[in-house]
Amino acid sequence: MTARILDGRGLAESIENSLRDEAATFVDMFKRRPRLVVVLVGDLPASGSYVASKERAAGRVGIDAEVIRMPASAATAELVALVRAIAAGDRGTVDGLLVQLPLPEHVDAVAVLDAVPPHLDVDGFHPENAGLLSQGRPRFIPCTAAGVQRMILDAGISTAGRHAVIVGRSDIVGRPLALLLSAKGPGGDATVTLCHSRSDDLADHCRRADILVAAVGRPGLVTGDMVKPGAAVIDVGINRVERDGASRLVGDVDFDAAKERAGWISPVPGGVGPLTVAMLLANTLLAAELSVGKNPR
Ligand code: GUN
Repeated sequence: MTARILDGRGLAESIENSLRDEAATFVDMFKRRPRLVVVLVGDLPASGSYVASKERAAGRVGIDAEVIRMPASAATAELVALVRAIAAGDRGTVDGLLVQLPLPEHVDAVAVLDAVPPHLDVDGFHPENAGLLSQGRPRFIPCTAAGVQRMILDAGISTAGRHAVIVGRSDIVGRPLALLLSAKGPGGDATVTLCHSRSDDLADHCRRADILVAAVGRPGLVTGDMVKPGAAVIDVGINRVERDGASRLVGDVDFDAAKERAGWISPVPGGVGPLTVAMLLANTLLAAELSVGKNPR
């Protein structure tokens, strides 16, 4: 069997098309465009390229995006003050505010992220938004986790009663995704196993997965023999490796081997990545709508 490919690029494009209409309606009604502010600290090439793709995608759907760059030497207090100033409107109207991660090691990332007020927190990282998600009444869902669930729903992969195994317990992906897939309703009702670096017999857990999500950031973590025949395999990893003398992006899954056993598989690049960006735009539009007391979704 060769797996069906989960085309994140195509799905992100169709999501962008509907967000563009929704943004245009917002502009008609409120005579301004929704606005996202991104704080980028330091000069990690990967972060720079993720932020550039967020900026480009915002432009495509009619959301204004401003990127505020800070040097890698910026202190925690300086970043907290900057985030508070942006949130207070010192840099103009703001609907969504995000701080690109990772932050430099000397920075207290929790202090900086906690300075983002929950109503602007389009990353869904604030404890209030995380709490709402854990109670099954989400407001802003972390973008990558939301993108994975959207991909599953769009492909018609059934989740109710199925066993989802997530490898990686990060606050950004694994943990919120475990909440989403185990919540009541469409795209949920799964039985979820959340694996991590201390899990015994990782391969055994993976082999029992109807839906297998790899979200660790380690190339080759999921090998072909760890995939149950017919399973949906979703690869959240984005790793830059040198292969055949060239620099390439690969996921956490051995794609060539896994696709021979899986029923569905997401590629890297072109899988979850574009959906993360689309979900960020959706959250920004939602934040703008909530700010004016309008929520059509
Ligand atoms: N770095 C990697 N993924 C993310 C994300 O979803 N949000 C932010 N702010 N930074 C990231």
